[in-house]
Amino acid sequence: MENNILQIIYLIGSVTFILGLKFLGNPATARKGNLMAAFGMIISIFGTIFLYTTEAGAHLHNLGFIFGALLVGTVVGWLIAKKVQMTAMPEMVSLFNGMGGACAMLISVIEFKHLETDMSLVEPSHLLIILLGLIIGSVSFAGSIIAWGKLSGNVKDKSLGMQQVINIGLLLVILVLTTIMIMGNGAYTIELFYAVFTLSLLYGILFVLPIGGADMPVVISLLNSFTGVAAACGGFLYDNKVMLVGGILVGSAGTLLTIVMCKAMNRSLLNVLIGNFGGNANAADAVPSNFEGSIKEVTASDAAILMKYAKKVIIVPGYGLAVAQAQHIVHDLELLLEAEGIDVKYAIHPVAGRMPGHMNVLLAESNVSYDKLIEMEEVNPEFATTDVVLVVGANDVVNPAAKTDPTSPIYGMPILDVENAANVIVNKRSMKAGYAGIENELFYKPKTSMLFGDAKKALTQLVSEIKALG
Ligand code: TAP
Repeated sequence: MENNILQIIYLIGSVTFILGLKFLGNPATARKGNLMAAFGMIISIFGTIFLYTTEAGAHLHNLGFIFGALLVGTVVGWLIAKKVQMTAMPEMVSLFNGMGGACAMLISVIEFKHLETDMSLVEPSHLLIILLGLIIGSVSFAGSIIAWGKLSGNVKDKSLGMQQVINIGLLLVILVLTTIMIMGNGAYTIELFYAVFTLSLLYGILFVLPIGGADMPVVISLLNSFTGVAAACGGFLYDNKVMLVGGILVGSAGTLLTIVMCKAMNRSLLNVLIGNFGGNANAADAVPSNFEGSIKEVTASDAAILMKYAKKVIIVPGYGLAVAQAQHIVHDLELLLEAEGIDVKYAIHPVAGRMPGHMNVLLAESNVSYDKLIEMEEVNPEFATTDVVLVVGANDVVNPAAKTDPTSPIYGMPILDVENAANVIVNKRSMKAGYAGIENELFYKPKTSMLFGDAKKALTQLVSEIKALG
């Protein structure tokens, strides 16, 4: 009876995950989706704690430890999520993803210890699932911790010589050791298990460490899908349907996102898996320019005149908009220009900011209408008929080097073709580089003018100058 109720709870939990994911696809319903999936997770956890029974009819014991761990995890997670700055969200997501990988990894370590002492009696398929959970969970954990360090600026890109050969070699060794364990009828199994464990952690570190330039988005979504697959292995191990469904959903959603990100960055997935793609540059390493042309500064009042008499304006938001928390003032600017009869849109690059959908979430916060946010492929042909493009805190996503400089770490990445507009105004605080750490020739082009300053302050000034024009 208890088990039947538990299966119904798992079914409800699985349905809430699927609906939650569907609702997360739109900023207007995302909060509801998140709450719905969290509800499903809570009933599944408490259902398991109180209703799960073994074949012998025993309930879970060690309830003190279970509730102690739940309490510590909830308090720490709650505090971190409450305190986190919007700009530090990607790091937090990476860290939390690493915790998911660590759970799957630890489940495999513990379940391996539970196996019979005589390894020859263990079912090869059971051992395979344990090893898959161990390998994928360890790679996800170690990789996410390095990604967390890189996003927060504490870990620098580092490439060993022959990085790709080392990474492929490591993967092959892990594969061979796993095959030996499964086919080996118990011989050397314990030693090999810890060797696979250590090598998987090492692979996770080495695979993320060299990835630099603008390529982190692909890796982050890939690590996300790894955690899902590792959790699904746990679902197989325990024959737990809700864990399986949850893991598969995260795994498949992460894989789809990885494909979208690969497309956005114009990279192949194989390249990501063997590592060492993208540049090794860092913002501080940006080389002095040798571009033709010079920097032209514009004042807020001149920018205001240019915009007020335009027919069509496209705003390009980037990471700097999030740093400055300028999403509300940019919406005010949009409304003001629209009141003048100007056609205003936002051009959204898929990797603008520091996490998938960063700009959409940010602009939804200030109630920018969703149909004003135009995706890259759709908006690119529109720049040629645009009077003014206002770039706010974006850099890499409008860098022409992605098209013109084969030595650039972002070469091949599709960009927003802002250069095709009649006028380009770029707002940022200085001439410093963006995430990929490279100079941007756009700033030196004759059509471009730089509006220097923090985005919130500069846009506030721009709004009051436009108002002053009457
Ligand atoms: P970036 O290329 O990082 O450029 C942001 C620019 O904003 C900087 O050059 C900075 O210049 C300026 N800025 C910073 N604070 C500002 C402020 N308070 N006011 C005004 N400007 C400010 O951003 P992007 O164009 O959005 O490109 C995103 C990059 O991050 C890509 O390389 C992408 O691959 C990478 N990335 C993306 C993701 C995802 S999933 N979206 C994840 C990881 C990495 P100043 O310092 O001169 O102001």
